[in-house]
Amino acid sequence: MIKKCLFPAAGYGTRFLPATKAMPKEMLPVVNKPLIQYGVEEALDAGLTEISIVTGRGKRALEDHFDISYELENQIKGTDKEKYLVGIRKLLDECSFSYTRQTEMKGLGHAILTGRPLIGDEPFAVVLADDLCVNLEGDGVLTQMVKLYKQYRCTIVAIQEVDPQETQKYGVIAGDLIGDDLYRVRNMVEKPKPEDAPSNLAIIGRYILTPDIFKLIEETEPGKGGEIQITDALMKQAQDGCVIAYKFKGTRFDCGGAEGYIEATNFCFEHFYKTGKAY
Ligand code: UTP
Repeated sequence: MIKKCLFPAAGYGTRFLPATKAMPKEMLPVVNKPLIQYGVEEALDAGLTEISIVTGRGKRALEDHFDISYELENQIKGTDKEKYLVGIRKLLDECSFSYTRQTEMKGLGHAILTGRPLIGDEPFAVVLADDLCVNLEGDGVLTQMVKLYKQYRCTIVAIQEVDPQETQKYGVIAGDLIGDDLYRVRNMVEKPKPEDAPSNLAIIGRYILTPDIFKLIEETEPGKGGEIQITDALMKQAQDGCVIAYKFKGTRFDCGGAEGYIEATNFCFEHFYKTGKAY
């Protein structure tokens, strides 16, 4: 029932400069695959086949990645190297890709609003590709969230417990436990200091949003740093009891910074590359 998945990928990726000066952060390879490919694979696993990507200046490599390279295809046709392209060919066969550009980087909320013409008036998923999520034990994180959406029919945000000293990096929720690992969100604070944080339950880069979010983002005033935060719009939905936070099963790596990126690389090398599951 949810078919669309939006990837806001217009950010500058300043934490990874100079690597991200001329290359999108989302194209950083984790072993042999770019970050965004892991995200699209997770989306397809969840049945989301209409992929929408919000790009910006200097991000054309994203579009080239999700396209056929005829020269390359011709070069490796009939050789055992074809196996390297099995995964990306599957994405090209089973998903459609559409793009729009965010011309001014005015924050995640603004990037999501920029994707509105690609999404229309239906519920959709959002993936921040620099959060790489894996679950070796079963369903991927988006699959878990789509199942929840079918049950609750409202916005679902993925959360994880973080070190209380780290709350300043995240949107943090307060809520009432309504089921296993499920909270009805009452309050949300963007990047609170540890002493101001309502909990240590932090929102990570997986969302299922109902389309009323677009109007709420439009009504949101720019917050910290002139950026339009998604948290402010979500807070308005939460006030109507329409946001559920879900402590997902699996592991999330913050690949927007060096430490998480290296951890993800080691993990994927061990569990996917060495075991022959990397393509
Ligand atoms: P980040 O907060 O990670 O920002 O954005 P960033 O620019 O990518 O990275 P740093 O902090 O400067 O190193 C979270 C997500 O929102 C997207 C980013 O591409 C990333 O996927 N985003 C952010 C946009 O698409 N547009 C924006 O204006 C801001």
